[in-house]
Amino acid sequence: MNEARSMSAPMPAIRPYGLALTNEARAALKSQHPRCLWLTGLSGAGKSTLANALELQLNQRGFHTFILDGDNLRGGLCSDLGMGADCRRENIRRMSEVARLMVDAGLIVIVAAISPFRAERETARRLFAEGDFIEVYVSTSFAVCAQRDPKGLYRAALQGRIKDFTGIDSPYEAPLTAEYEIDTQNLNLEDACARLSTFLLNK
Ligand code: ADX
Repeated sequence: MNEARSMSAPMPAIRPYGLALTNEARAALKSQHPRCLWLTGLSGAGKSTLANALELQLNQRGFHTFILDGDNLRGGLCSDLGMGADCRRENIRRMSEVARLMVDAGLIVIVAAISPFRAERETARRLFAEGDFIEVYVSTSFAVCAQRDPKGLYRAALQGRIKDFTGIDSPYEAPLTAEYEIDTQNLNLEDACARLSTFLLNK
């Protein structure tokens, strides 16, 4: 990680090239207001499920979207990263920078990642214009997530077979000022998705 960090340190001689086409012009062609909807919460909270249902619904309504899912990016762009705190920070930094590029390109981006640290989520927020970063706390409790355990990871972590597991031996810092909170414990997927899309479309 240290090497990766120094490799990505800013070089003073490089200045951004001013692009001729504006982000507004890109978005106008898609007739939508690009945004980043950032879903944070424990593993198994329902982030990916919710992101997928929401994306299908937005797509059917004619919106241009993309999902950045932690599990998926960790298979490619972030495949060099582990689950220690520094790697998670770098994971979130990369996801937020990619999300920013996609928003600049005119898309509505849905990020689904544990993103356990408040400071990194706030750094991500600062990449976007006011109001264009919408933090959604998928607040399904640890007990419910551990009971669902769709990938058997909680069981493995509780038995000590996996280290640095969020909520067990790695911290999760819940948002203090999320724009929206949703607990999937007592909501079916359809209702949860309807609530989130109503909130988003009213924005
Ligand atoms: S983050 O903390 O860096 O944001 P991210 O969302 O990309 O995490 O990846 C989390 C996914 O990795 C989980 O959904 C789970 O499937 C898997 N995973 C594997 N090991 C761990 C671990 N130690 N803690 C949390 N999730 C893990």
